[in-house]
Amino acid sequence: MNVKISPSVLAADLSCLGDEIARAEEGGCDTFHVDIMDWHFVPNLAFGPNIVKTIRKMTDLPIDVHLMVDNPQVMIGSFADAGSDYITVHVEVVDDVPVILKEISEKGVHPGISLKPDTPVEAVFEYLDSVEILLVMTVFPGFGGQNFIEASYERIRKIVDRASEANPKLILSVDGGVNPDNASLLVNAGVNYLVVGTSVFKNHMAVENIRYLRKVVGR
Ligand code: DX5
Ligand code: ZN
Repeated sequence: MNVKISPSVLAADLSCLGDEIARAEEGGCDTFHVDIMDWHFVPNLAFGPNIVKTIRKMTDLPIDVHLMVDNPQVMIGSFADAGSDYITVHVEVVDDVPVILKEISEKGVHPGISLKPDTPVEAVFEYLDSVEILLVMTVFPGFGGQNFIEASYERIRKIVDRASEANPKLILSVDGGVNPDNASLLVNAGVNYLVVGTSVFKNHMAVENIRYLRKVVGR
């Protein structure tokens, strides 16, 4: 399967967001990743439906929204209406995962679930056949620019083992500390979607940074 690259807007220079989005697109990214943080689920605040609306006007590429919030249920409608193509919620905070996945789908949005690095991977096994994206956090959520957690490879292997039977079409995504040094290891482990913040937007060189990442990954 082709590997998708999704620049995480959290790392973009917001004073020239339009240029950042245009450069990332020119570099050949596939989607844009937007982190939403509520200062409860994570110790940081970031973005709301407005930025999704704004980015929607800047690009035709899909927008993948990552809800790092305690109460995602109340936000699905607003983020769907703002123009999200994918909405991912955290398994740690959702009481009834099938219900929220259905709610997301009914809004015409692709549903995803995510898990933090200290949540056992088994927590998502029962949903593998009903999600389109599984987003594996490879840093503790809340901030860009952190170091990739090496123990993630083993977690990814366990998920890939399980998902290859349960849902061969699963988009298996990683988020946090992804860079040209670990990208091909991740892809070889079975990841087909890379969320990349700092390594894409650094030095206002998203065109070159994405092209290099694509070259390293080789597909
Ligand atoms: C972290 C966010 C990530 C972050 C990734 O909580 O979910 O999407 O922006 O940024 P880098 O690639 O800098 O780790
Ligand atoms: Zn994210």
